[in-house]
Amino acid sequence: MPVVTLIVALIAGLLTATVTEARTLDQIKASGTLIAATEGAYPPFNFYQGAKLTGFEVELAEAMAKKMGLKIEWKALSFDALLAGLGQDRWDMVIASFGVTEDRAKAVSFTNPHYCSGGVIVSKSAAMKDAASLAGKTVAVQTGSTYMANVKKIAGVKEVKNFPQDTDARSALVAGRVDAWVSDRFAVKTMLENNPALGLKAGGYLFVEPIATAVKKDNTALIGALNKALADVMADGTYKTLSEKYLKEDIRCK
Ligand code: ARG
Repeated sequence: MPVVTLIVALIAGLLTATVTEARTLDQIKASGTLIAATEGAYPPFNFYQGAKLTGFEVELAEAMAKKMGLKIEWKALSFDALLAGLGQDRWDMVIASFGVTEDRAKAVSFTNPHYCSGGVIVSKSAAMKDAASLAGKTVAVQTGSTYMANVKKIAGVKEVKNFPQDTDARSALVAGRVDAWVSDRFAVKTMLENNPALGLKAGGYLFVEPIATAVKKDNTALIGALNKALADVMADGTYKTLSEKYLKEDIRCK
């Protein structure tokens, strides 16, 4: 083959490699490794314990991968960069407490939910417990979260302050720089149990959402395999053990 033809063929190969579809289930299986992205700053779901990435979702994903005969290679990135990486084929799946929303489902596909939860208001006053009580208040939320989207829809809220990490939104409340913080019911429950001295109070659900793993839009074979693995760990007791370890209760959708 003439050198020029060879070079053209190589370049064409490289181009296809970068613009092609997300890895198929067969390709993932052949490599033996599922590339999963998460945030690593959202306890108790995904967080760092020293240098080790851990949490309910990290251990759950590892148990699911094991059922699929795979290992996981983790990538940790800022929350609002995670879904975009699926479209760019930078990783196969994202597990980071993403709520299934119509907007997100336009860009990515979701598996069956691994838990059901919702946003709650946290503040220093027990009076702030529903949407109406946020009128005239400053509210801290994580950038790009469903908490941000939902609080922005509440009429009369004085200001929605965004923070790259949920723990920073929480710190703003603790420091008294905002009146309230909206976050996940179970993340809040765990935080309040671990920090009773903060004297923070949580209200009821502002909204509810199923939480699921996201993959590249229409990567149906991968969705099928992940759904099967999730059903398997839910059936064999693994899910319950992990949920009770991190949340002290079984948080699967009822
Ligand atoms: N459940 C919320 C959402 O879907 C927040 C998720 C935050 N996750 C995280 N890893 N910080 O937007």
